[in-house]
Amino acid sequence: MTLKAVDYDRHQHQVYARARAIAPDMLTQWMDVFEGVLPARRPLAVLDLGSGTGRFAPALAARFGGPVTGVEPSDGMRRTAEAQGATPGVRYLAGGASAIPLDDGSVDAVLMFLSFHHFPDKALAAREIARVLAPGGRVLLRGVFSDRPVGEWYVRFFPRLEEIGRQLFPTLTATTEIFAAVGLKPIDLIEVTETYSASEAEAVEKLRLKGISTFDHLTEAELAEGFAALDRALEAGDLHIPMTGRSDLLVLG
Ligand SMILES: C[S@@+](CC[C@H](N)C(=O)[O-])C[C@H]1O[C@@H](n2cnc3c(N)ncnc32)[C@H](O)[C@@H]1O
Repeated sequence: MTLKAVDYDRHQHQVYARARAIAPDMLTQWMDVFEGVLPARRPLAVLDLGSGTGRFAPALAARFGGPVTGVEPSDGMRRTAEAQGATPGVRYLAGGASAIPLDDGSVDAVLMFLSFHHFPDKALAAREIARVLAPGGRVLLRGVFSDRPVGEWYVRFFPRLEEIGRQLFPTLTATTEIFAAVGLKPIDLIEVTETYSASEAEAVEKLRLKGISTFDHLTEAELAEGFAALDRALEAGDLHIPMTGRSDLLVLG
């Protein structure tokens, strides 16, 4: 079975910003991690590739001086990002990884935050990233890698997510090979301890929004069954949701 690409204009764009809201201190933590591996000079031009609802672009501009360009194919996701209001140094462009609408050597860093696994032609995307990256630039790939499973707490209610994840997420080895082919080598693999929610209630509330793209591959019946099982576990006090988890950041350059 080949998975169809997730259409972020169908459901995700309506819920993503709420379902995947990132707390201010977590955003600061990510910026600290990025700062630790990016060149020290300022300003830095940053491409946020697959910028979604703009969770990161404003913070990137504030920390690194900009300009920050969010490139995002989904109109709905981009509109949500733009609805945050104009931020100095930030712009959002329609487009995607296979034809990045930026000049050669024009950015110091490329961030792909949970977007790389969606790119239909990853080898072409890597070529495009290498093209727009200035000499000495860095690639920040916050990915999910099928050979480094994180064991999401909700998978026990939606068991087919495991198989979907295996198909959807590339391995770390495959990912580094794709970038090696365009001259970008792995520099670091940073394990960030990420806080997803402040409480069990918040975690459940966010999950109910189904703002997780792998859910788009489940049937209505699987979703109904999974949420019914989750409700039973909630009632029985048997959820045990970890508030933090491991997030992998692959740094290339
Ligand atoms: C899980 S969301 C992540 C959004 C954002 N980076 C964040 O962390 O909030 C994945 C995003 O990748 C975008 N995407 C899908 N295919 C893409 C492509 N070929 N090029 C660039 N972005 C793409 C989707 O539209 C979606 O907004």
